[in-house]
Amino acid sequence: MQNFIFENPTKIIFGQGQIGRVGKEVARFGRTVLLVYGLGSIKKNGIYDQATASLREAGLNIVEFPGVKSNPVLSHTLKGIALAREKQAEVVLAVGGGSVIDTAKTIAAGVRADHDVWDFFTYKKSIQSALPVLTVLTLAASASEMNAAAVMTREEGLQKFSIRSPHIQPRVSILDPTALFTLPATYSAYSAVDAIAHMLEPYFNNTEPDSPFQDRLVEGLMRTIMESTEIILKEPANYSARANMIWATTWAFNGLTSTGMGLISLPVHMIEHSLSAIYDIAHGAGLSIVLPGWMRYTLDRNAGKLARLAREIFLISERDERLAAVAGIERLQAWFAAIGSPTSLTEAGIPEEDIDKIAENAAVLAQVWQLKDYSKEVITEILQQCR
Ligand code: NZQ
Ligand code: ZN
Repeated sequence: MQNFIFENPTKIIFGQGQIGRVGKEVARFGRTVLLVYGLGSIKKNGIYDQATASLREAGLNIVEFPGVKSNPVLSHTLKGIALAREKQAEVVLAVGGGSVIDTAKTIAAGVRADHDVWDFFTYKKSIQSALPVLTVLTLAASASEMNAAAVMTREEGLQKFSIRSPHIQPRVSILDPTALFTLPATYSAYSAVDAIAHMLEPYFNNTEPDSPFQDRLVEGLMRTIMESTEIILKEPANYSARANMIWATTWAFNGLTSTGMGLISLPVHMIEHSLSAIYDIAHGAGLSIVLPGWMRYTLDRNAGKLARLAREIFLISERDERLAAVAGIERLQAWFAAIGSPTSLTEAGIPEEDIDKIAENAAVLAQVWQLKDYSKEVITEILQQCR
């Protein structure tokens, strides 16, 4: 285990009926709140009413900023920054999934910046301060509710880049499992894929060979996410399954599982960001296409760890390491297909001729993220495995 600092200051308020506490929590940080949300799901399922009633009860001035789309875009976020400045918002509340939370985080940092907010995403500038961010989570996947990251697409150049700073880490997040009951089956499945990818990328891409603690954390969380998803797809309003899902996905990407693992990298996420930037497909759907292909690409380098995953998660008894690894990849891909997430570019309607364009887009992010092993040629080879 290598040296590390683990600090996660987000206060979590968990459970049924807890959204009514949001007003008091927000009031600790300011009187005028920018309320960020998406395209309408929270109005249909009553979460908007619960949150705004609580904010009003706490005597807060609410400035609404709706309209965040999935795979959020910079142009809309810039409007949020302008509105927050104009209304002198003191605190930002995100009510939604990863897209809404990431927009709220970017607005919170952008309000305080005297330069183009995109400079944070290209790492030309680092975030020095931000408005406090709080969240009410309605989709369990990104772990943005308990981490310091945000992802955004700049339409010009189709760049989907990310930022990371303790200043944008949510101060408080409310996790009410009943808020997830109305999620469609598609997004319930994509959530599982995303959380699994968040854990498997550091599981495979790290510089620490001795990691039994972290490996078992990942394997335990992964089993929980798979079991919960299978129940949720049959019973969307199963409280226990949604509760396990929301809490497990939060821990899947809040920093814990990669502590002590040395340098980690997220090449599957890097390539997926190009798919969702170019084709606007759901992040989890893109990951279920890229992850198995990437695993096949790394078979020679990663056979031991791939075989371990196959044995621990899919109980594969094959003694030969390579055969076990291959069987594990096939089982994971079959599970993605069984829950309804696409497992090939073709299935998602992305033609093979586009591989060059996707690789070119991803190679730009590889440079920003300093993933030196991922040239355009390497990315092309990986994408060939995802056809
Ligand atoms: O816009 P509305 O109407 O709210 O509908 C949303 C959206 O269409 C809907 N939805 C959310 N909660 C619902 C619901 N529908 C019914 N009932 C509910 N309770 O679900 C759709 C998808 O929402 P979105 O927020 O886009 O999903 P997700 O949470 O998966 O977020 C995806 C974004 O997060 C980024 C992704 O790249 C993508 O842009 N990520 C952020 C990360 C981070 N900040 O750490 C890490 C991840 O790797 C990821 O990259
Ligand atoms: Zn992700």
